Amino acid sequence: MIMNVILTGFMGTGKSSIGRLLAARLGYRFCDLDAVIVEQEGRSINEIFSSAGEEYFREVESATLQRILQQASQVVSTGGGAVIMQKNRDLMRKAGVVVNLVASPQSILRRLQNDDQRPLLRDSKSLEQVEKMLLERERFYSEADIRIDTNGKNVEDVAREILNHLDRGV
Ligand code: S3P
Repeated sequence: MIMNVILTGFMGTGKSSIGRLLAARLGYRFCDLDAVIVEQEGRSINEIFSSAGEEYFREVESATLQRILQQASQVVSTGGGAVIMQKNRDLMRKAGVVVNLVASPQSILRRLQNDDQRPLLRDSKSLEQVEKMLLERERFYSEADIRIDTNGKNVEDVAREILNHLDRGV
């Protein structure tokens, strides 16, 4: 019996939509870390970054993750940068199975093309920027228990693939 399924991955890899479907299939609660932060703070991620800064956001993100992961039987989708702090990665590993969603820089850029809700890509949304950030974060994402390539797959395909892994005990 697994405690939680925790989805990690870069912005635009489909964590929230896949997480929601996966939770329904498992009969687990779905929890979106960014959505909890927005509700708690009463302001958008953009507003938190612009008025309080990234460092503040990371502190709130870590504290909220810790609180959420005290519960079990949930699918938790995390923000793309939640893996940066070592203590967050330790927390995730202890609280369940960590699933990393992988997508090519091209498909990430395509999915985020018309998005203005990602403060870290607002000023320079280019293939180079996405590639650079992916490279910087690869060592954190690679610590996951399971890595799923989402390229060319729909939400159903990816959820099914994750369920197959979980059935086989990762
Ligand atoms: C971030 C990703 C975002 C959000 C914030 C920072 C990141 O979440 O937490 O803008 O550092 O990659 P999504 O991955 O859900 O876009």
